[in-house]
Amino acid sequence: MRLLLPLLFLLPACAPMLPAVTDSDRAWARQAFPETQDDLDTSRGLYAMKCSGCHMLVLPPKVPQAEWPRVVEKMQPKAKLNDDEKARILRYVLTASRPGIAVTP
Ligand code: HEC
Repeated sequence: MRLLLPLLFLLPACAPMLPAVTDSDRAWARQAFPETQDDLDTSRGLYAMKCSGCHMLVLPPKVPQAEWPRVVEKMQPKAKLNDDEKARILRYVLTASRPGIAVTP
C-alpha cells in the first residue's frame, strides 16, 4: 500500500494533455451552436472523464471533424453517456477539431 499510493498519483501523467478551452474555441462554439450557452469547460471535463477509461484520451484534432459524430455515436453506449452528456462531448470535440485549429504537438 505504501508503494501503491504514490504510483496511483503518477498515473494521470500518462494521459495526453488536453489543452484548456481558449477564447477562440468559445467564439467558434457560440457561432456553431448559437442555441446553447455552452462555455465548453464542463464539456471538456466530461470528455476527459468519460472518454479515457478504456483507452488513452484521443486528442480531438487526431480525428477529422467530420468523423466525430460517428465516433461519439459509437462510443455513447460504451461510455454510458446520457443524451445531454453526448451532446456536450460532441460540441467540445467538434470545436476542438475544427479545421484550421492550431494543433499542439
Ligand atoms: C467501455 C470502454 C470505452 C469507453 C468508455 C470509450 N471507448 Fe472509445 N473505444 C473503445 C474501443 C474498444 C475502441 C476500439 C474498437 C471500436 O472501435 O469499437 C474504441 C475506439 C475509439 C476511437 C477510435 C476511432 C474509431 O472510430 O474506432 C475513438 C476516436 C474513440 N474510441 C473515442 C472515444 C470517446 C470520444 C469516448 C467517450 C465518449 C470513448 N471513446 C469512450 C472503448 C471505449
